[in-house]
Amino acid sequence: MKKFLKNKLSVSSIRKLRNLVQNILEVIPIIIPIGLDLKKLGRIYGTDKASGHFYTDHYTTHLSRFKRKRIKLLEIGIGGFKDPKAGGESLRMWKKYFSKGQIFGLDIIDKSTHEENRIKIFQGSQVDMNFLKKVTDETGELDIIIDDGSHINEHVIETFKFLFPILKDGGVYVVEDVQTSYFEEFGGDSDNLKNPKTMMNFFNGLTDSLNNQEFVIPNYKQTYFDKKIISMHFYHNMIFIYKGNNDEKSNIVVNNQRRTADN
Ligand SMILES: C[S@@+](CC[C@H](N)C(=O)[O-])C[C@H]1O[C@@H](n2cnc3c(N)ncnc32)[C@H](O)[C@@H]1O
Repeated sequence: MKKFLKNKLSVSSIRKLRNLVQNILEVIPIIIPIGLDLKKLGRIYGTDKASGHFYTDHYTTHLSRFKRKRIKLLEIGIGGFKDPKAGGESLRMWKKYFSKGQIFGLDIIDKSTHEENRIKIFQGSQVDMNFLKKVTDETGELDIIIDDGSHINEHVIETFKFLFPILKDGGVYVVEDVQTSYFEEFGGDSDNLKNPKTMMNFFNGLTDSLNNQEFVIPNYKQTYFDKKIISMHFYHNMIFIYKGNNDEKSNIVVNNQRRTADN
């Protein structure tokens, strides 16, 4: 074929043809982004999860097992802030990545222009519990929840307390941009890292829940988080929290046993 074209076409025509083929090859994955990894999809759709923050590598580690499943994902914060037409980049990335997934987005600004097949948009605040109740009545239990909303410490904590129970066992809750835990204007604190109002202090505290079966506290009653958080993964500026079912019975047995470093 190459020989045939070389004989039939002039050098400049071959060059033009080669450029055309290269342009088509570059455009095809943008039109049909099948089989692309999350980082490439993030770049194509223009979300800062793939560029400014480099979060997509961590998302791949924790979420790729859901890729071909009929999952339900809710993201808080659609992007574009006050401009109703701007944003939606990450929702479109999730829709392509989770090819059978149902994607829900919520934002305090009306972002309904981003609604499309498999993307449903809600307008309201992440700390309006009546609104969150209406949202979750409609979505049902979720497989993945991502908080990329106001990043205000109090909001992140309140939203987590309300939404984590709506996550399915086996699901993953993600908090982005936890650096605001140290920024005063977001209710954070860099002077006192033990400030109980900051999200890092709150989530750090939950790491004890992972070991609640070992607490030497008479008649200790497991909290909801003790029972349901099975692992937590902290990265630069983001946290993944896995939900599952910690067996309450094993707690009783362990508490009645003589403790050694091995049990
Ligand atoms: C960082 S942007 C989200 C970016 C988007 N998730 C992405 O990755 O492309 C944050 C969004 O949260 C929204 N937001 C701010 N405060 C909020 C609140 N209290 N409740 C819900 N959304 C809020 C803003 O309007 C803004 O669009």
